[in-house]
Amino acid sequence: MVTGAEDRFVMAMERCTRENPALTATRRLLIRGRVRRDGRVRISGAKNSAVALLPACLLVDGECVLQNVPAIADVLVQREILSAVGAEVIADDGEVRVRAAGRLQTEVPYTLAKRLRGSVLLLGALAARHGHARVPLPGGCAIGSRPLDLHLKGLRELGARVEIEHGYIQAEAGRLLGTEIYLDFPSVGATENVMMAATAARGITVIYNAAKEPEVVDLANFLNAMGGKVVGAGTDTIKIEGGHPLRPVEYSIIPDRIEAGTYLLAGLAGGGSVTVENVIPTHLEALLAKLEEAGVELADAGDAITARLAGRPRPLQVKTLPYPGFPTDLQPQLTAFLLRAEGTSVVSERIFEDRFGHVGELKRLGARVETDGRTAIIEGVESLTGAPVTATDLRMGAALMVAGAAARGETVIDGVEHIERGYERFDEKLRQLGVAVEWLE
Ligand code: UD1
Repeated sequence: MVTGAEDRFVMAMERCTRENPALTATRRLLIRGRVRRDGRVRISGAKNSAVALLPACLLVDGECVLQNVPAIADVLVQREILSAVGAEVIADDGEVRVRAAGRLQTEVPYTLAKRLRGSVLLLGALAARHGHARVPLPGGCAIGSRPLDLHLKGLRELGARVEIEHGYIQAEAGRLLGTEIYLDFPSVGATENVMMAATAARGITVIYNAAKEPEVVDLANFLNAMGGKVVGAGTDTIKIEGGHPLRPVEYSIIPDRIEAGTYLLAGLAGGGSVTVENVIPTHLEALLAKLEEAGVELADAGDAITARLAGRPRPLQVKTLPYPGFPTDLQPQLTAFLLRAEGTSVVSERIFEDRFGHVGELKRLGARVETDGRTAIIEGVESLTGAPVTATDLRMGAALMVAGAAARGETVIDGVEHIERGYERFDEKLRQLGVAVEWLE
């Protein structure tokens, strides 16, 4: 068992809080909505790419350098996990150097793993590197049961012995052999775990019904830059030729499409024009199509998108789906945006079983929303009014920022530590959007 990991994490969190004053769990965020009418914000590197590429650095004996890494709590935890298993990790202004030399520990400490879902990706990385991994059942947002059967099935089909005992997943992967794996659902995490493990398998692995998310493609590009052979990422069939020697590389992470979507929605909800810079517009197709349907005028210029809305949005019918469908990670924020629509919207959640926790909090602002199982019916209201609210998961926190921007008066958000998991300098970025924010001690 790795000792002292929790102490090191607390110290790292304190250091990070000093360096980045927005990072603190003890303050509340006050948003004064509908103040200025236009803004511009630069989007950071993708959380879900960073959380996958950090463990992928462990596949190589040497030093990898990741650029455009966001300064968010989930990345900090993932970095601490890499340190806890024996890698040297140095972070400086968006750049993270991971030096994983020699023999690493193959057990991930519970105190860190329980803090984020992405810790389960250590399973594929450590199994590939050392043929053994012991990883606690992970934590993450409380949005319904999140089984791991597909991760386990994938590793077992590659030849690993995988057991769950005393809250840990234990994988013995002495000899991995390439094979064909069909995923019953295109799970992002299972696709990534199998891709990493398959780099060490003899022969070819084919993943059918693989996840097509841009972050999966980013991982494939990173593995290929290292000398791996991954073909087909971004389609539903990914082929990995295992056994190629991997070498250290420098690699820049893609922009965060969910962060970009959140600020587009917050800026529009605040009632003006908004420009998000450093984005890949094709990664946002599903959202942009829905915004156009809602009456938003869009212009894209290379890596920037400008959106403008005169008056209230038109109502929408939206279903979340695996990429390229509408992302579940933008569902709470879109729901918040539609609270002021001119008519009734219907939002169906098809990925997670319990992802309408934000609805109760949105009602405090005067929203008229009812849920029926995995569907929310939103009757648009003329105006929302600020109120105290509490976030209990990451994207709920993001939805409260959007709703706060749309409401008249002051909204005070508690539970800000959930927002810190995925949004870098969000206070500053909201201000750049024209939303007035203040910290309350
Ligand atoms: C990733 C993202 C998360 C996003 C989600 C869906 C990271 C770190 N997180 O999470 O932000 O909300 O994709 O886009 O990248 N499932 C199973 N069995 C499994 C695995 C998943 O049934 O073994 C189900 C889940 O319960 C869920 C669905 O598949 O209903 C999607 O989950 P998955 O794509 O695996 O999400 P994550 O990788 O956990």
